[in-house]
Amino acid sequence: MESSSATLRLPRRVRSAALAAIGGTQLEPELAWMSWAGTVWRLAGASGAVFVKRAADLGGERDRLAWLRGRLPVPELVGFYHAAGDDWLVTREIVGVPLYHPSVGWSPELVARAFGEILRAIHQTDAMDCPFGVSKRGHVLIHGDYCLPNVLVSAGRLTGLIDVGGTGLGDPRQDLAAGVWTLQYNFGTGFARHFLDAYGVPSMTDQEIERLRRKYGR
Ligand SMILES: Nc1ncnc2c1ncn2[C@@H]1O[C@H](COP(=O)(O)OP(=O)(O)O)[C@@H](O)[C@H]1O
Ligand SMILES: [Mg+2]
Repeated sequence: MESSSATLRLPRRVRSAALAAIGGTQLEPELAWMSWAGTVWRLAGASGAVFVKRAADLGGERDRLAWLRGRLPVPELVGFYHAAGDDWLVTREIVGVPLYHPSVGWSPELVARAFGEILRAIHQTDAMDCPFGVSKRGHVLIHGDYCLPNVLVSAGRLTGLIDVGGTGLGDPRQDLAAGVWTLQYNFGTGFARHFLDAYGVPSMTDQEIERLRRKYGR
C-alpha cells in the first residue's frame, strides 16, 4: 500500500521526532496530500497526530510558523530537517476540516462568507514588526496562498491556517485573487461575490471579479 511505502521513505530523524511528538512507538501513516510542490503525510500515534511535509525548500515556512505563533492559529512546529535532498517540516495536527470539504456542512455561499471574514481578520493582524514580505503603504499581512484547503474549521469556527510559506507583508489583492480562484475551482462561479462582500470590498462587476481571479498565481 502507498502509506506503508511512505513510512519506509521517512528519514530516521523525521520518524523519531514524529514518534516523540505523538507519544508512540509505532506510526500509523496516511498519505494526506500530494501537490506539485511536495508530499504531506499524516502520522497518528497513541496521543495525537503530526503532519510531515516534504519539499525542496521549507525553511521559509518554518520561519513564518515561528513568527506567526500567538498571532494567528498556525500549527505548532515539531521539527525541521534536511534529508534525502529535501526539507522535512513536522507540525502538530490542528483539529478541523479544510473549508472546501463537504463535511463542513455549509452551503457554498456560507463557506464563501466565512472565508471572506477570516481573510479580513488576517489582513487586520498587527504586523508592524513582520520580517517577511515588503513593508510599504497599502500592504498588510497576507496569507500568500489563500485557498480553501489551507483554512481549517471546526464546529463553525476557524481552527487553523496552513501552508504559510508565502505569508508576509504584501498586497491584499493577492489573497483576494486566490480566494476568488479557489471558490470558483471548488464550487463554480457565483460565490466570489459573497466572499468579497463579507471581506468588505466595494461591489465589483463580473468582469472585474474575473480579472481579479486571473491574477492568482501570477
Ligand atoms: N498541522 C496540520 N494540521 C492539520 N492539517 C494539516 C496540517 N498540515 C497539513 N495539513 C493538511 O495537509 C494539507 C496539505 O498541507 P499543505 O501544507 O497545505 O501542503 P501544500 O503546500 O502541498 O498545499 C492541508 O491542506 C491540510 O489539509
Ligand atoms: Mg496547501
